Amino acid sequence: MADKAKVAIFLSGRGSNMAALLYASRLPDAAYEVVLVAANDPEAEGLALAVAEGVATFARSHKGMTRADHDAAMGRAARDAGADYIVLAGYMRILTDAFAASWEGRMLNIHPSLLPKYPGLDTHQRAIDAGDSHGGVSVHLVTPELDAGEVLGQMQVAIRKGETADSLAERVRYAEHQLYPRVVNDYLCRENDPAFLLEKVRELALALPQSHERESHGSPGWRAGSEKSGKYFAYFNDQHHGSEHIAVLVKAGSIDELFDLVEAQPQAYFKPAYYGASGWLGVILNRPGLDWDHVADWLKRSWRSVAPKSATKLIDAAEQF
Ligand code: GRF
Repeated sequence: MADKAKVAIFLSGRGSNMAALLYASRLPDAAYEVVLVAANDPEAEGLALAVAEGVATFARSHKGMTRADHDAAMGRAARDAGADYIVLAGYMRILTDAFAASWEGRMLNIHPSLLPKYPGLDTHQRAIDAGDSHGGVSVHLVTPELDAGEVLGQMQVAIRKGETADSLAERVRYAEHQLYPRVVNDYLCRENDPAFLLEKVRELALALPQSHERESHGSPGWRAGSEKSGKYFAYFNDQHHGSEHIAVLVKAGSIDELFDLVEAQPQAYFKPAYYGASGWLGVILNRPGLDWDHVADWLKRSWRSVAPKSATKLIDAAEQF
């Protein structure tokens, strides 16, 4: 199994979700480990539990600090602990856009409603007042807009007759403790799952005009142009020739560009065996927080370098708008 993903948990209060995440991480086959529990309140109950369980902690009160400085201090603590991901578990701070953007794809949150219903506070009371049959909980990716990132998982909780916000909150909490560790684990696994990565690349490659898939030496590849005379612009590469990478190979502009990229960003690029010699660059997919827009840009660039004029014209026209 690949190395476990390293997770920092941020909280502000009692930390029951943190406890659920921590104990789940200690099950056999868990995909992640908790390297830090951090809080914006040095008195947060969750910190004491983390200490007792031998997990590193960090506390920095936000009082007297700007939001940006406080975010930066928390982020630094996460990075210093070696965290690739931040998991928010009852962290009662609104994050700056810049901070959310810098951890995009690597920060998850749990919210006690069935999003997109009831972002923000008082979720249980709002669900009861609206006469909803169910409340519930959502785990989502964090983006600059509050409670608006992609929902990764949800669980419904029935609203009973005479339900109060407190009684509902208590049952939602049980659901949270089941859902959160599972969703975190699945999310972290999918980043190393060749089937998931292939599907994403396929979707992006086939979205380009006049492209089609054709296998090459046992690997999926994508060509631009007609079935008859098309040219390859990408290959999927799953740990080929002893490489630990799952990657998509795209055409670099030149061998020099290829070497420069590999040297400057070895975590993102590599020179694949055999293909590298003819200018194919390996874009590594199995890494934390991969930016899929970046992969899409590379595919488009590579596609452009081989696509027939009739097809590139289409894209040029579309991009004018
Ligand atoms: C949970 O209800 C969670 O949904 C919300 O904050 C609460 C945290 O509770 N974001 P705990 O500190 O994990 O017990």
